[in-house]
Amino acid sequence: MKLKYLVAILLITALFLGCAGEKKEAATPTPEKTAMPESTPESAPKFKLVEPGVLTVGTDAAYPPFESINEVTNEFEGFDVDLMKEVAKRIGLEVKFVNVAWEGIIPGLVAHKYDVIASAMTITEERKKQIDFSDPYFEAWQVIVVRKDDDRISKAEDLAGKIVGVQIGTTGQFVAEDLVKEGINFEIKTYDTTPDALLDLKNGNIDACIIDNGVAEKALKNNPDTYKIVGGKLSYEEYGIAVAKDNPELLKAINQALKEIKEDGTYDKIYQKWFGE
Ligand code: ARG
Repeated sequence: MKLKYLVAILLITALFLGCAGEKKEAATPTPEKTAMPESTPESAPKFKLVEPGVLTVGTDAAYPPFESINEVTNEFEGFDVDLMKEVAKRIGLEVKFVNVAWEGIIPGLVAHKYDVIASAMTITEERKKQIDFSDPYFEAWQVIVVRKDDDRISKAEDLAGKIVGVQIGTTGQFVAEDLVKEGINFEIKTYDTTPDALLDLKNGNIDACIIDNGVAEKALKNNPDTYKIVGGKLSYEEYGIAVAKDNPELLKAINQALKEIKEDGTYDKIYQKWFGE
């Protein structure tokens, strides 16, 4: 008799505990399930961000007038910086810039160290294998920069036998390599940044640089007695804002913002600020 009671009590206890356990587990997801659709409107952005509410922008900030760090204020500034502030605002995000070396800027995006690259980056088929690009936002081309007093080089063919500086991993390097392949035989010297290459040119350690026209023109403006541009356009390129391939909703939002910025005259204002006379 006693044993029967004991077994019965044990069974009842086990059943009760089992139910309680189940109930607890089941109780947790239920409120979430019902709360989610109400608190998340259909239109809420579905993109990934490194930091919630913030668009984190990776840029190699040694590239005036597109991106640089103001020596007095220590703030990021330039065409891309103003453009991205405007893009972020229209997506409803704060904006934060991180200074990254150009070499490694694409792997950093793929690894989600930042949400986008805005760094005067040319849209290329090769890069498109790794990352996505926004609609083009700027036209550019490669130019040859030489010292102002150097009369030996006036066109690409004159680079034969010379030393040409480029920023490593840029379209400047790719264009230089193509010229060599085409048979204009010169030595290519790579630099971590474009200002490093320009400085070495100024100091007479190399004979020319191949760099983006906008940056070359800015260098000329700042150092009118040091440099000149020769040989015309070596390429046709377009800059795009780069986004990781697993973040298509962010890309969509950026393209929409870019479109609005172009349509309502904001783009022209930013352009005038950095490239107007
Ligand atoms: N437009 C060139 C490229 O995409 C050079 C860009 C370099 N940008 C920079 N911030 N350093 O290769």
